[in-house]
Amino acid sequence: MSRRQLSSWQQLEFLAQKKQTQHMNQLFDDDPDRFDKFSIELPNMLLDYSKNLIDSETMLVLNALAQATHVEQWRDKMFAGEAINLTEERAVLHTALRDFSQQKITIDDKDIAQQIQQQLAKMKTFVTNFRQGHWLGYSGKRITDIVNIGVGGSNLGPQMVTEALKHYSDNTVNVHYVSNVDGAQIVEILRPLDPRKVLFVVSSKTFTTTETMTNAQTALNWLTASSFDPKAIEKHFVAVTVNQKNALAFGIAKENIFKMWDWVGGRFSLWSAIGLPVALDLGFDKFEQLLLGAYEMDIHFKQTPLEKNMPVIMALLSVWNTTFLGCKSQAILPYDQTLHMLAAYLQQAEMESNGKSVTWNGTPVDYPTVPSIWGGLGINGQHAFYQYLHQSNNVVPADFIGSIESVTPVKGHHETLMSNFFAQTQALMTGVNEEQVRADLTAKGRSQEYIDKLAPHKVHAGNRPTNTLLLQRIDPKTLGSLIALYEHKIFVQGIVLEICSFDQWGVELGKGLAASIQQELSAQEDNAEHDCSTSRLIAYYHQNK
Ligand code: F6P
Repeated sequence: MSRRQLSSWQQLEFLAQKKQTQHMNQLFDDDPDRFDKFSIELPNMLLDYSKNLIDSETMLVLNALAQATHVEQWRDKMFAGEAINLTEERAVLHTALRDFSQQKITIDDKDIAQQIQQQLAKMKTFVTNFRQGHWLGYSGKRITDIVNIGVGGSNLGPQMVTEALKHYSDNTVNVHYVSNVDGAQIVEILRPLDPRKVLFVVSSKTFTTTETMTNAQTALNWLTASSFDPKAIEKHFVAVTVNQKNALAFGIAKENIFKMWDWVGGRFSLWSAIGLPVALDLGFDKFEQLLLGAYEMDIHFKQTPLEKNMPVIMALLSVWNTTFLGCKSQAILPYDQTLHMLAAYLQQAEMESNGKSVTWNGTPVDYPTVPSIWGGLGINGQHAFYQYLHQSNNVVPADFIGSIESVTPVKGHHETLMSNFFAQTQALMTGVNEEQVRADLTAKGRSQEYIDKLAPHKVHAGNRPTNTLLLQRIDPKTLGSLIALYEHKIFVQGIVLEICSFDQWGVELGKGLAASIQQELSAQEDNAEHDCSTSRLIAYYHQNK
């Protein structure tokens, strides 16, 4: 049965029609218990979703949709290791990487919990050894800098976490990230470094990604240019990959290869050895705290009834705003400097997961699916793109994420920051109507002519949906919970919308074309098979090179 045929779906379409004429101001006036009804508190975070265009009936029917689409059953299948990545016929078990329950998890009769524990133990030994200064470079010097080479899920997760948890680093080592194949990045990162003191972590699930392989080769050339010791690579390169064969062929020593598994999606791989740079920087205990925070969110997701389940609620609200109310994008707006990379991280997590347009059996979907995700630090956004959020005729639902305590308190700063945090969601919701604008200008003694001219420009329609996530403070555990919250939200969205969330076929076409164009560029020849735009661009590139 198609999603559209479900009675909950049809009821939501009907409710969405009704909502077009409602304003949240009215909903708040009508119901003083709105906050209590539409908020969820967990030990380290609070979600207030009352500033959405919803009421109890909407939430009831959204929950009915979650039930009708068997969210709970699919969730249990995921945790049990069933092959819910339907097009790649794989299990989806990033949750197993942070499962502190000691339960046996089997895939094809193999106990993967044991394999995970082995890798974690290997990571721990390596990290401890390294941080105690026992891991030395080829010339006997201590390593001062780690350069992670990876892209997408092999970069965004660890880099976002490194940035978010900088405060917890004891500066045993400096961590750098190279993701771009544009040489400008690696050259600038390597320029001040001493090859005798650098450890490269080549992170690539497949160990075939062109950008990563190109950067890894450049790093190797840079290292070997400084040393005639053929064994230098053993002291300066480790790999994290599923593809041991390619890592060995690259020259990385077997004992320096950390295992990944094909049942861990790249964009959900932070919890595996892909998180190695985080552990090297912060220490293994803090990495474990990150895992623990995620595990706590897993427990909440597994055990809490749908109507109080944070990731489920956030997913249903996204479906409501996008599929039923027609919003096309969603902003991620952290009011915590440490989370400055969160929007970039969630872009991959959500857009690569759910940016699809066919159902599980390949039928085109005839309803809007996920929004495009964008955003950045809210406080900076206020002086850049918030004009659009407040007054453009595109409504952009937004997640506001802030912390009660700052990890780096400076007198007066946090209150200024958080007053903006609270003010913005209120302003987006209440808006200001023409009558209020006119009264305000009149009270300021403005002329009637001036008021008539200015009033329409000062009107804010309001009624713009926001979620507020208030964290206690950014620490490894809370951050782990926050990331897992979004992971599960994305999963539930996929189930409700009948989208395969765990493949990424859409990135293959461009990759394949780039590989053939690269040959043309190297050979300085034009290939007549392109469309005329692409051919002429390549020819222009050749002529002007
Ligand atoms: O091109 C997209 C992608 O496959 C992502 O899904 C993945 O996170 C990234 O490339 C990097 O892949 P790998 O870890 O295999 O180098």
